[in-house]
Amino acid sequence: RYDEAEAAEIIGEHRHLEGPLLPILHGIQERFGHVSEEAVRQVAAALNLTRAEVHGVVTFYHDFRKAPAGRHVLKVCRAEACQAAGGDAIAGAIETALGVKFGETTPDGQVTLEAVYCLGLCATAPSAMLDRRIVGRLSEAKIGALVEEARL
Ligand code: FES
Repeated sequence: RYDEAEAAEIIGEHRHLEGPLLPILHGIQERFGHVSEEAVRQVAAALNLTRAEVHGVVTFYHDFRKAPAGRHVLKVCRAEACQAAGGDAIAGAIETALGVKFGETTPDGQVTLEAVYCLGLCATAPSAMLDRRIVGRLSEAKIGALVEEARL
């Protein structure tokens, strides 16, 4: 759970940097698993920024999570090479199979679906990652098994 004193420590470690906001947000996400509303408020106050400014950064960078992740995280590549290999249809089919949109977690807290922009696995496009495991050459036929595995 969120701890203001620990967050203050993370802020203190980075605030002397030239551009402290991103390293601070990364530190907070690493420690707490996501960047909560509380964290946004605290960081904004510490850096003399508005909450909207901090919020904008958290929303702009896909790396940041605004809510805790599910037990499993399924990252699906939405970048060009994967798109060109039919990734859009795959992405849509995964959303349908899980019943959530990108950026959301299934109501049972089991699976978070995230978009990523190139996993460096363009050679096996369309590519995805379930937790740490790489899944390449995704096809509609493979989605059922992948989603089932994520739900375990
Ligand atoms: Fe999808 Fe590179 S574009 S892995």
